[in-house]
Amino acid sequence: MKKLYLLLFLFTLLFSFCKKEHLEPPVRSDEPYDAEHDYAGLSEMEILGKKLFFDASLSSPVGQSCSSCHSIKDGFTDPGHTAFSKGVINTLMGSRSAPSIAYMKYSSALYYNTVDSTYMGGFFWDGHVNSLEAQAMKPLLNPIEMNNTSLTQIYSKLQNVSYTDLFYKIYGSGAFDDSTATVQFALSAISAYERSKQVNSFSSKFDAYLNGEAQLNAQELRGLALFNDTAKGNCAACHPSDGDNSFGVPLFTDFSYDNIGVPHNPASPSPGPDYGLGSYLGNPSVNGQFKVPTLRNVGVTAPYFHNGVFNTLDEVVKFYARRDSVGLFAPPEVNQNVNKDELGKLNLSDQEIQDIAAFLNTLTDGYKK
Ligand code: HEC
Ligand code: HEC
Repeated sequence: MKKLYLLLFLFTLLFSFCKKEHLEPPVRSDEPYDAEHDYAGLSEMEILGKKLFFDASLSSPVGQSCSSCHSIKDGFTDPGHTAFSKGVINTLMGSRSAPSIAYMKYSSALYYNTVDSTYMGGFFWDGHVNSLEAQAMKPLLNPIEMNNTSLTQIYSKLQNVSYTDLFYKIYGSGAFDDSTATVQFALSAISAYERSKQVNSFSSKFDAYLNGEAQLNAQELRGLALFNDTAKGNCAACHPSDGDNSFGVPLFTDFSYDNIGVPHNPASPSPGPDYGLGSYLGNPSVNGQFKVPTLRNVGVTAPYFHNGVFNTLDEVVKFYARRDSVGLFAPPEVNQNVNKDELGKLNLSDQEIQDIAAFLNTLTDGYKK
C-alpha cells in the first residue's frame, strides 16, 4: 500500500512538473508586438513567403522589400502614406498609389462579366496581371520598384538568403537546381503568405459585430445603414457589405471596374491622363475605369484612390456625395465613361458623411474586444 502511495506521489510530482514545462512564457507588456516576426498559425510555405515578403536583400541595390510599400500596420499599404511610393532607386517612383494586398486572394483573373456588363477581377488597379504569383514577379523586376534586371539576378539573391533551409524543406534537395524553378518557388511562397490567415484575418470591429462579439456605436450603426441604403450612400452597390458572394464573406468589393471621376493628382510624376483599364486593354469604352478596391482596413490606408488624390475618408465620402456640385472638386482626370448614375450627387448631410466615414473606420483588422 505504501508503495502505491509513493508511486501516486511521484506521478503527481511528475505531472505538475510537465505542466509547468508547458506553461506559456509570460507576455511582457513593455515589449511592442512584433508583427513581422509573428509566425503564429502559418504553414512552412507561408512562413517562407512572409520572410521573402520582408526581405530587403531581394532588391538591387539591397534596401527594399515588398513590405516597404505594403506594411502590415498600414493595412498592407505604404507606411509613409505617400501617394507615390519611391523605388529602391529613390529618385524613381510610379504614378499609382500602393493598394492593399489584403483580401486579394479572393480575386479571380480578369474576365468580362456579361450579366453585369463589366470587367471583373485581375490584379493591379487596371487588372493587368491574372494571379498573385504573376503579380509578385513584377515589382522584383520593375526599375521603379525593386529594380532587379533579370531572373538570374533574383535567383542569385535567393541562393544567399539566410533561410535556404526552408526552401529545401518545402521543395526538396533540388530547390536550387534550376534558376527558373527557384524563382517560381519564391513567387508561390510569397503568394501563399498573401493568401494566409494573417493577411486575410477578418478581425475588424465590424467582423466582431457580425459575430455578436462587439457592438457598433450609434454613429457607426447610422453609417452602416447609410452605406447600404440605395437612396443614400449606395456604397454597397460596388463595395458589398454582405457575404453574398461565392466565398460567403463580406469583402467590400465586387472586383468590378468603374470610372468614378477621380481628379488628376497634381503631385503625380505623370502628367496623365491615366486611362486605367482602357489603356491596358486598348479599349476606349472602358477608359478611366479602375478596379473597385476592398474597403477593409481603409481607416489606416490613406491616401485614397488609384492616384492617392484624397487624404481623408471624410473627403472621399464628400466627393461621392458632392462631386457634381460646381466648383467643389477638380474635374475628372478622364472625362469619358464617368459614372453619373450611382454617385456624384447623393442626398447626404455633413453629419451623414461623417457617419459613413465613422463606419469605414470599423473595418480595420486587429480589433481588440
Ligand atoms: C515601391 C513600392 C512597391 C514595392 C516595393 C512593391 N509594391 Fe506591390 N504595389 C505597388 C503599387 C504602386 C501597386 C499598384 C500598381 C498599379 O496598379 O499599377 C502595387 C500593387 C500590388 C498588388 C496588387 C494589389 C491589387 O489590388 O491588385 C500586389 C498583390 C502587390 N503589389 C504585391 C507586392 C509584392 C508581393 C511585392 C514584393 C515582391 C511588392 N508588391 C512590392 C507598390 C509596391
Ligand atoms: C459605382 C461603383 C462605386 C460606388 C457606388 C462606390 N464606390 Fe467606392 N470605389 C469605386 C472605385 C472604382 C474605386 C477606385 C477608383 C479609383 O481609384 O479611380 C473606389 C474607391 C473607394 C475608396 C478608396 C479606397 C482606396 O483604397 O483607395 C473608398 C474609401 C471608397 N471607394 C468608399 C466608397 C463609399 C463610402 C461609397 C459610398 C458613398 C462608395 N465608395 C461607392 C467604386 C464605387
